[in-house]
Amino acid sequence: MDDQLAALEAEVERRAAQVKTPGDLETLRTDILGRKGGRLSQVMAGLGKVPKEERAEFGRRANETKARIEARFAQAELRLGDAELERSLSQRFDLTFPGIPPRRGSLHILRQTLDDVAAFFRKRGFAIVFGPEVESEYYNFEAMNIPADHPARDAMDTFYLASGGLLRTHTSPMQVRAMEEYPPPIAILVPGRAYRRDALDARHAFAFHQFEGLQIDRGITFGHLKGFVSDLCRTLYGNERRTRFRPSYFQFTEPSAEVDVSCPVCDGSGCRTCGGSGWLEMGGSGMVHPHVLKSAGYDPEIYTGWAFGLGIERIAMVRNGVDDIRLFTENDPAFLEQFA
Ligand code: PHE
Repeated sequence: MDDQLAALEAEVERRAAQVKTPGDLETLRTDILGRKGGRLSQVMAGLGKVPKEERAEFGRRANETKARIEARFAQAELRLGDAELERSLSQRFDLTFPGIPPRRGSLHILRQTLDDVAAFFRKRGFAIVFGPEVESEYYNFEAMNIPADHPARDAMDTFYLASGGLLRTHTSPMQVRAMEEYPPPIAILVPGRAYRRDALDARHAFAFHQFEGLQIDRGITFGHLKGFVSDLCRTLYGNERRTRFRPSYFQFTEPSAEVDVSCPVCDGSGCRTCGGSGWLEMGGSGMVHPHVLKSAGYDPEIYTGWAFGLGIERIAMVRNGVDDIRLFTENDPAFLEQFA
């Protein structure tokens, strides 16, 4: 039996030194050391035939042999690992070869535009608040001084919901919601989505983004509105831009004005972007109507304020020379990556 152990050990020594791959080494290991049918187990199975008084001695030797065989395998494993490392290190690397750039996301151009707007308001101490896109008739119309049956409701092209609510047609309903929540004075920016049943074309989307600016305090005048909006337009479009207030009409402001900015493309001489007029319409504005203040619980005898609502798509289009509003939602990477 001692002979068998010695023969097995010699065989392992010889074969382990010749093994070329980790797979072959594993096969050899199972062949020799496998619990069932392994060659060592087979030798050990003969233990029963060994005379009783020699059994302990034989067992000890068998264990020693097993330990040495295991050490052989460990050694062979190291050798194969070293060989593998050697092989991979001896390959030539071209360190100047361009790598694979990681894919990076970026903010959508509408979000970037809004961030610029928000930074302007924040610097001036305005709070940013958000309101529901599913609105009630009360906040969208009534509280804004647009009673039921008023023809102005048609002009808003409203999406009505089966639930009885509607998709807000502007961010203005947040004027009253905010005033209900906070006592005067108030200075807020309300960015958000608005919806109108417009036919889709290069300039109209049925879902678009607006932001509402609102400031109410004692002694606020139209001059404050002009100053604030002119400053905003210069910040967004550049210091050379002029702002124009054109008399207009909204139910919730009095007086009301349309805000125009001198066309940044032609600087006012008239071009395709401004339709030849030299001016671009940015949105509506005015002094908050006393009825609106009253429905929000503010005393119009004490407080006055301005409000305006501008379109974010509009600003992004003018600033970046985008001529079709649909590009913002088509998610064509070729378009979006220009602003990454
Ligand atoms: N809510 C108006 C619109 O969407 C814009 C506006 C806001 C006008 C605030 C006056 C004051 O057309």
